Amino acid sequence: MNRIVGTGMAVPPCVVDNHLLSRCMNTSDAWIVQRTGIRERRVSPDTYRMLQRLAEAPDKAAFMKSVLADGLDGKIDSSMTVSDLALQASERALENAGLTAADVDCLVVSSTVPDFAYPHPGCVLAGRLALTATPAICLQQGCAGFLYGLAVADQMMRGGMYRQVLVVGAELLSTIFDYTDAGRDMAVLFADGAGAAVLRNEPGPRGVLSSHLHTDGTTYESLAGELWGTSTYPPVSKRKFDEDRMRPRMNGRQVFVQAVRHFKEVVGECLAANGVGLGDVNRFIFHQANMRIIEAVGEGLRIPSDRLYNNIERYGNTAAASVPIALHEAREAGLVKDGDLVLLAAFGTGFSWGATLIRW
Ligand code: UT7
Repeated sequence: MNRIVGTGMAVPPCVVDNHLLSRCMNTSDAWIVQRTGIRERRVSPDTYRMLQRLAEAPDKAAFMKSVLADGLDGKIDSSMTVSDLALQASERALENAGLTAADVDCLVVSSTVPDFAYPHPGCVLAGRLALTATPAICLQQGCAGFLYGLAVADQMMRGGMYRQVLVVGAELLSTIFDYTDAGRDMAVLFADGAGAAVLRNEPGPRGVLSSHLHTDGTTYESLAGELWGTSTYPPVSKRKFDEDRMRPRMNGRQVFVQAVRHFKEVVGECLAANGVGLGDVNRFIFHQANMRIIEAVGEGLRIPSDRLYNNIERYGNTAAASVPIALHEAREAGLVKDGDLVLLAAFGTGFSWGATLIRW
């Protein structure tokens, strides 16, 4: 079986509470808490500096446009990238497992918005870990990315290809949103962070029991970011910028409804495949998309709330990083114990979703 023997996480030091966002856009702490459960989130130092300036700007839209055109304070190089966070989380997970990067046979890295259009942050991370021949498998599966990564790693290990694999979910999403009224639906939700886990093949009954993955590609337009990409020719243009098509877009209602539906289905599928009941699961760790989504799933399935681990209040939605961050925190808090059954589930862009059951 393939067992998680180390976990780690990293978040930027800059904390943005709902009050700062309320000074940038027409929103309020009450609205955000009531609709999402988020009180604060971590963002890159660049986003943080930008938000402080935006809060003071008399014409918010003009300021945001000027940042898109010229960067911040005449600078367009980032002071933090997604691979910085991936590296920190990876180093912590490796240390936690008592390993170094050289001990790992493969990296599986999931990230939605990369440092570069290519190569993917998985390759950049491999370089930052000084790995010169270890394969980096790179996934861009949005919020379900860590679960897809875990499944890929587990199956390759079951096949005997690798013995120790580092699985990472890392995001620096805060840098892509419009923090004025025009982008408020998404800007209040998403944030930055990274989480990592080391999987090791060991004899015995502990480890990943099964993974269940799905994608409904007919819905991809409901949660999409054109940024650069071949949906436009050329992939990046002044016109794309002027028409604001560089910004991500989301049909929040549709995402909400589909998320609740697919979370419930895939949790049921995962339990049935293993012949276990809801009451047998000691800890449910769901992607931290929106507290109301988690509550709707919990109520629909009748999961006792003390079996759910949630931290969305402090970190917002960190997409591919949210499950490994929550898993790491739950473990550190002693909420995931040897022998426990732990169920992970996630849903996001694509739409892609999945669930994994682990005997800890
Ligand atoms: O990992 C998956 C990623 N995505 C998600 O999980 C998103 C899932 N969806 C959601 O979380 C919710 O749909 C939102 C939190 C995005 C929105 O909540 P909602 O209860 O579905 O609100 P709504 O979209 O129906 O909008 C209600 C009102 C609208 O105003 P009008 O048209 O009624 O005047 C929105 O313009 O709330 C407005 N609104 C806001 N108001 C204050 C939207 N965003 C904000 C905001 N602050 N940040």
